[in-house]
Amino acid sequence: MRAVVYERFGSVDVLEVRDLPKPKPKDHEVLIRIHAATVAAEDPGMRASRGLNGIRKPKHPILGFYLAGEVEEVGKEVTRFQVGDQVYGNTGLRLLGTYVEYKCMPESAAIVKKPDHITYAEAASIPNGALTSLPFLRDLGKIKRGQKLLILGASGAVGTAAVQLAVSFGAEVTGVCSTSNIDLVKRLGADNVIDYSTQDFTETKHRYDIIFDAVGKSSYGRCKNLLTEKGVYLTTIPTASNILRRKKSKFSATGLRADRKKVQDLHFVNTLIESQVYQPVIDRYYALEQIKEAHSYVEKGRKKGNVIITL
Ligand SMILES: NC(=O)c1ccc[n+]([C@@H]2O[C@H](COP(=O)([O-])OP(=O)(O)OC[C@H]3O[C@@H](n4cnc5c(N)ncnc54)[C@H](OP(=O)(O)O)[C@@H]3O)[C@@H](O)[C@H]2O)c1
Repeated sequence: MRAVVYERFGSVDVLEVRDLPKPKPKDHEVLIRIHAATVAAEDPGMRASRGLNGIRKPKHPILGFYLAGEVEEVGKEVTRFQVGDQVYGNTGLRLLGTYVEYKCMPESAAIVKKPDHITYAEAASIPNGALTSLPFLRDLGKIKRGQKLLILGASGAVGTAAVQLAVSFGAEVTGVCSTSNIDLVKRLGADNVIDYSTQDFTETKHRYDIIFDAVGKSSYGRCKNLLTEKGVYLTTIPTASNILRRKKSKFSATGLRADRKKVQDLHFVNTLIESQVYQPVIDRYYALEQIKEAHSYVEKGRKKGNVIITL
């Protein structure tokens, strides 16, 4: 089977397409024929630098957190899935590695059946943004109908999910993005858009119940005057000042949540997708063999929603 492998940290040139043996599922595992995977914003960093995926060399030789594909074989104890099920999900750090044609995952992993009307690529694009934004907005932000939200980085994978989820919770959403992404962010349901290339979003008289910085380009200090009295600042990228101001400024490593909770969240997002309240956002598609181009594009930090690898 084809896979993208890396054995040392470095530039895109460390990524190599290789032929590996096809895995065999254990009793509680399913074997998934992957049709689409996502190149997430964090993947180029994990390729280039030690840290999340090992210190001396990559602990997992294959990158990729998100996948969609068909169950090709099930272990003899598996009850949740059958051969032929079309599934999608998130590996978490423990099972990392979706830039590959076949992958075994325990049936208890963060995988669910995909809605029938979306493609594998669309399904693979869902978990990154949804599994990040949902715990931020619902669990940390305690989002409520009628609240005013400001979403920074509204055009990225996390931001496009956050806009749609916030709208589905009945909030009034203002998205911050650049000129070329205004139409996208409005189409996703934002009530107002601030173009950060022509306007400083902090220069406003509006106050927000939740400010969610999906791209980690702001700080609590810069945003605090925009918050209502009980307002909360949320960010995907924690800084020292966030850690010191935990009551008003919250962050989370959503990848570390229990698979059981991620499964519940994916079922919840499936209901939104099925009722057409939530739509996948895909910027570009690359073939597995174009993985270097895909990484080069994603590491620029300008993608609109998600970048997909097709297999
Ligand atoms: N804490 C967690 O658990 C967690 C989970 C997932 C992701 N993350 C992190 O969250 C960050 C965002 O992830 P992502 O996947 O959404 O990233 P992404 O898709 O790469 O974000 C790119 C988007 O951000 C926009 N952007 C860049 N600078 C901006 C600015 N100053 N103001 C407003 N928008 C700006 C870009 O639009 P323009 O091209 O128009 O500038 C682009 O559309 C990443 O650093 C990722 O590692 C954290």
